[in-house]
Amino acid sequence: MKFKKNILETIGNTPLIKLNRVTDDVDALVLAKVEYFNPGSSVKDRMALKMVEDAENDGRLKPGGTIVEGTSGNTGMGLALAAIVKGYKLICVSTDKQSKEKFDILRAVGAEVIVCPTNVEPDDPRSYYSTSKRISEEIENSWYVNQYDNPSNTEAHYLSTGPEIWEQTDGKITHFVVGVGTGGTISGVARFLKEKNPNIKIWGIDTYGSVFKKFHETGIFDKNEIYPYITEGIGEDIIPANVNFDLIDAFEKVTDEDAAIYTRRLAKQEGIFAGNSCGAAVRGVVQLKKHFSRNDVVVVLLHDSGSRYVGKIYNDDWMKDNGFNTN
Ligand SMILES: Cc1ncc(COP(=O)(O)O)c(C=O)c1O
Repeated sequence: MKFKKNILETIGNTPLIKLNRVTDDVDALVLAKVEYFNPGSSVKDRMALKMVEDAENDGRLKPGGTIVEGTSGNTGMGLALAAIVKGYKLICVSTDKQSKEKFDILRAVGAEVIVCPTNVEPDDPRSYYSTSKRISEEIENSWYVNQYDNPSNTEAHYLSTGPEIWEQTDGKITHFVVGVGTGGTISGVARFLKEKNPNIKIWGIDTYGSVFKKFHETGIFDKNEIYPYITEGIGEDIIPANVNFDLIDAFEKVTDEDAAIYTRRLAKQEGIFAGNSCGAAVRGVVQLKKHFSRNDVVVVLLHDSGSRYVGKIYNDDWMKDNGFNTN
């Protein structure tokens, strides 16, 4: 008999799928690493499991403990799967910017969800950064995951996502394009790929309203760059330790509207029903087309599934309310 011992054994080994229409303008082979094939429907399953296992191994997480994390949903889902299989409690702290579906899904897999306001400074006691830290200090036998600064996040992608992309492209990958939030995905994959071939170019996709691009280009953390935006999962108002700026060749910013439009095109033109940041990443590939040539192999990583955005990006009324084109 062939079976998995539990759901965690189904994490990883996601497919690489050629984009045939949505990147028509791009004169290169564009391949999407489609991470919604993971059991929690996102790439974050990989790092969630790695963070839990590393914490178990060095005693930060003890039997019967409570896992506490500030998460927009995808990391929470990965943590929930690990918590269920391994017998921990999970508290997820998130912001009111996130889609309601994400909270419902987390509650469905047994997590307690606490929602904090988005439009406060990171060091404000009401912010989700401060709240998750405070809760982890108040609850006995709890462990605060801190995906932003936890090195196991990057390590998971160095050990699994990077090697998979290298093997699936037969080492022919020339460019890797991916949205950046905590930085774990880009930094782990970049480290592995650049060790194999330092000529591989790594592009980070950022949002308007986030600090990454300017910080990478000038070294300046410019508070004036920060304002509320719609795209979920990428861009930050902090510099997480997991973003290794030395491994990133450049950042490209994508607007909220373009991210939404390309998310919908991925579904309609490729049958890839993916999340909001995936549209941003694919739109980023199109914006960067002058950097690619015919023999290039461009891999774009798609973080999560469209099912978490049915009330938003995939809803015409929501698109119109935000002034976005629905064609
Ligand atoms: C939907 C989505 N896209 C992109 C990202 C960014 O990935 P990373 O945190 O590895 O930089 C995240 C992270 O939470 C996410 O949930």
